[in-house]
Amino acid sequence: MSATVVLGLAWGDEGKGRVCDALAADARYVARYSGGNNAGHTIRVGKEEFVVHLIPSGIVRAGVVCTIGNGVVVNPEVLAEEVSALENRGIEVRGRLKVDGRAHLILPYHVRLDGYREKALGKAKIGTTNRGIGPTYEDKIARVGIRVQDVFDEGILRAKLRAALREKNSLITNVYGEEPYDPDEIADYLLSFRDLLEPMVADTGALLRGAIKRDEPVLLEGAQATLLDNDFGTYPFVTSSNPSAGGACVGTGVPPTSLGEVIGVTKAYTSRVGDGPFPTELFDEMGETLRRVGNEYGSTTGRPRRCGWLDLVAIKYTASVNGITTLALTMLDVLSAVEEVKVCVGYEIDGERVDEYPMSQTDLHHAQPVYKSLSGWGVDVTGCRRREDLPEEARDFVSFIETELGVPLCMISVGPERDQAIVKRIGV
Ligand code: IMP
Repeated sequence: MSATVVLGLAWGDEGKGRVCDALAADARYVARYSGGNNAGHTIRVGKEEFVVHLIPSGIVRAGVVCTIGNGVVVNPEVLAEEVSALENRGIEVRGRLKVDGRAHLILPYHVRLDGYREKALGKAKIGTTNRGIGPTYEDKIARVGIRVQDVFDEGILRAKLRAALREKNSLITNVYGEEPYDPDEIADYLLSFRDLLEPMVADTGALLRGAIKRDEPVLLEGAQATLLDNDFGTYPFVTSSNPSAGGACVGTGVPPTSLGEVIGVTKAYTSRVGDGPFPTELFDEMGETLRRVGNEYGSTTGRPRRCGWLDLVAIKYTASVNGITTLALTMLDVLSAVEEVKVCVGYEIDGERVDEYPMSQTDLHHAQPVYKSLSGWGVDVTGCRRREDLPEEARDFVSFIETELGVPLCMISVGPERDQAIVKRIGV
């Protein structure tokens, strides 16, 4: 009677979508718990590729009930677009997608404010996805947000929007010099989504707790990742939610005592989109090789991702913050393109060797990676389906990571296709 969590250990784009997809084969429920359409989860099924930003990636598995938890922020336009796009490709969505009535809505002024603020920050910008994520969570915490359930009480909706926009319009006009919003226009816009939302709205926490009690397999699917966590990540260059394991409980209503496996996902190297410190970033030919071979371009914004070596100092830290019980290692095949593989095993900060991930932002900005070099394998591994099939150097690399982190591997992905993975079955 427990739920399994899948989450990213670095800055996102670790391949959580495909790990979730593999696990969803055995799941009855797949729930998103944080973030919004800043995410981009790619799932390959045969020759088809699906990219979902808001809907849990479990949706491509027939029969799985997908929930958008109270901790997620929902852009209703994106929800409508994703439902139609999936249904147009023959995937039944409406009957098995539930959206929590407590989830907050991303409104047009949130998206605009995201852009205005980034522009105002200039060089100190966060590099957000510009999807209105931060401003929506700000309103949630400030208790002036609009929730999915408000769409079903027109009087309350209009009153809340009037109250929220009184302050917001003053910010928009006086600070950013832009046009104000009419609360009634926003209300009419939101009411136009009523028919779409009505059959989907649910108390998804109650649904998931019921499923766990009945011993039905439940998967909690993370978005973004731990180094983007508002508390534990590289603040302020983070997102505005808690993608770490604690967020899985707060964002779904599943109690901590009901969590079982916590699966941490990391690439065999590291990537990051947006600004902020990244000690192992490569600015040379090698960084370019990783980007090209790994096709490291954002699935939400198309931005080229910053690439670098695997940072075990950071991953040990995030593994411990999340209490991961098992590890999924993705994109091992990309390293076939390099002769010598490096892994960061420590930092040098202002002349001192440091093995722990620093709490201080200043220290992190000064951190220089200390690397361990391992031999590359230089051969194609996409056909490997058992760990024994991997070349010796790749096995050494994988074992080194497993030993350093002290948790067993449950999956190694060796290519983008659904079956291109070495999987050690764990029950969801
Ligand atoms: P926001 O979530 O749009 O506010 O962006 C904040 C930071 O998180 C920026 O650096 C984004 O690039 C990053 N970010 C947000 N979502 C994702 C994701 O799904 N993958 C990778 N980076 C992300």
